[in-house]
Amino acid sequence: MYHYIYFHCLIHIILIFRVQATVKERNELDSKLCFHSSFAFGVATASFQIEGAWNVSGKGESIWDRYTHEHPERVFDHKNADVADGSYYKVKEDVQLLSQLGVNFYRFSISWPRILPDGLSNNVNEDGIRYYKELIEELRKNKITPVATMYHWDLPQSLQELGGWTNPIIADYFVDYARVLLDNFGDTVKVWLTFNEPLTFCENGYGGDDAPGGRSSGFEDYMCGHNVLRAHGMVYRMFDQKYRKITKGVMGITNVFPWIEPATTSREDQKAADAARQFMFGWYANPIFSQQGDYPQVMRKAVDANSKRQGFPRSRLPYFTAEEVEMIRGSFDFMGLNHYTTYLAAPGSGKISTKPSYQDDINAIITQKDEWPKSNSTWLRVVPWGFRRCLNWIKNAYNNPKILITENGVSFEAGLHDTKRVNYIDAYLRALHAAIYKDGCHVLGYTYWSLMDNFEWMRGYSERFGLYQVDYESQNLTRTPRLSAKYFSNVAKTGCLPDDYTDYTYNTD
Ligand SMILES: *[C@@H]1O[C@H](CO)[C@@H](O)[C@H](O)[C@H]1NC(C)=O
Ligand SMILES: *[C@@H]1O[C@H](CO)[C@@H](O)[C@H](O)[C@H]1NC(C)=O
Ligand SMILES: *[C@@H]1O[C@H](CO)[C@@H](O)[C@H](O)[C@H]1NC(C)=O
Repeated sequence: MYHYIYFHCLIHIILIFRVQATVKERNELDSKLCFHSSFAFGVATASFQIEGAWNVSGKGESIWDRYTHEHPERVFDHKNADVADGSYYKVKEDVQLLSQLGVNFYRFSISWPRILPDGLSNNVNEDGIRYYKELIEELRKNKITPVATMYHWDLPQSLQELGGWTNPIIADYFVDYARVLLDNFGDTVKVWLTFNEPLTFCENGYGGDDAPGGRSSGFEDYMCGHNVLRAHGMVYRMFDQKYRKITKGVMGITNVFPWIEPATTSREDQKAADAARQFMFGWYANPIFSQQGDYPQVMRKAVDANSKRQGFPRSRLPYFTAEEVEMIRGSFDFMGLNHYTTYLAAPGSGKISTKPSYQDDINAIITQKDEWPKSNSTWLRVVPWGFRRCLNWIKNAYNNPKILITENGVSFEAGLHDTKRVNYIDAYLRALHAAIYKDGCHVLGYTYWSLMDNFEWMRGYSERFGLYQVDYESQNLTRTPRLSAKYFSNVAKTGCLPDDYTDYTYNTD
């Protein structure tokens, strides 16, 4: 029942400034789509992607610093985030952008190595604490609610030397780091996310080509996921027992869920789509949000069986103890959800090689339709109706949890007149509106990714998601609002989707 109580607390906290937002003209036109006045709008960024100042004022090295310095050839434009958007030096300027947008909240992430240069809590970098305190204070002055992510991929390099997320001990060190954050910022930050997209940083980082570049699919990725889930549960329990009362905050975790549609209506394709959903989303959601906890059955069975066929004496997917299952189950006040796009699934060949592989374990062929509109990211096509299906799937699978959309967005090439981005946001918000008001999904708020163009990991600066364009050629790293900034600001301030931008190119049902 405490979830119920804290749901109201969450609403209160996230939306406390919402009350001041203009609700005028709400429901004036029947045709106009409006969100409830308690619904919150925000934008997101992440420390490594915007801060720069990678080696100043006591900050330690992160795995992304190391990786982009050692392997520029692996980054699309061979660039790094040494300077990025220079946000470390632009607290006031960036908060002004947020203020002009009129958003209710700002989702940012805290750099672990800026706070703890060696990753360990015996050495706290006071300048790191100062920087985030200044940011939070500036947000407060502008009546923008801070939503903080503890981990958005920039692991201290020193901890990677110990195996990073594949070493079980890291959960203890993450708890130590979280304690430093809650002790220093708990009085001002009320909405916390432990992790951003474990699927991505475990799969791409330890199973693929993102930092630290493990390339050990079907093995290290599962170890990473296992320790991330343990670390999340441990931090949530600490928060629940020691910090909830004094800070009056709430805590969740952000997972990414691209919708997976069966390629056809055949039973085989439906089964393949279900397995793919469980492997991509259920992997991190089932242990936390399901009634029974633990990994999804389909994943457990497939990886156990494949491990056996490959001659391993034990499963490549680690087992939780009974205590761990209980600790992790229900470790949330709300669900953070990132959603960008949709895929199709059909059955794989069922063949496995001797070398472990997450793809073999899923045993599905994942594609996208040629006719779905493209973005500037190979993986991202515009499919608004997938958003609604995704939310309905979660509602049915996990007893309709409270959801905060922590990311939704699209990349296009540089330019200020970004009508395609406006259309994307508008269409996804229509799908979201239907999920809430027609289907009854409990969604508390929506976050656009991103406030401004930034360092898009292995794609460097080539893919731009910003409402504000960043001029990387200018000394000032000048930020200029795009048409989409004007559009989103209107939505955030009124809570309604304006008629005059509507473009029905995209099917939202
Ligand atoms: C910090 O990194 C920059 C390169 O981004 C380098 O030019 C500079 O010398 C470094 N500063 C220190 C103090 O190491
Ligand atoms: C994105 O845009 C950049 C810059 O124009 C281009 O170099 C890159 O190939 C594009 N990427 C995709 C996936 O379309
Ligand atoms: C850089 O920023 C400063 C201060 O905001 C401003 O006065 C100056 O005109 C800017 N320079 C350029 C080239 O945009």
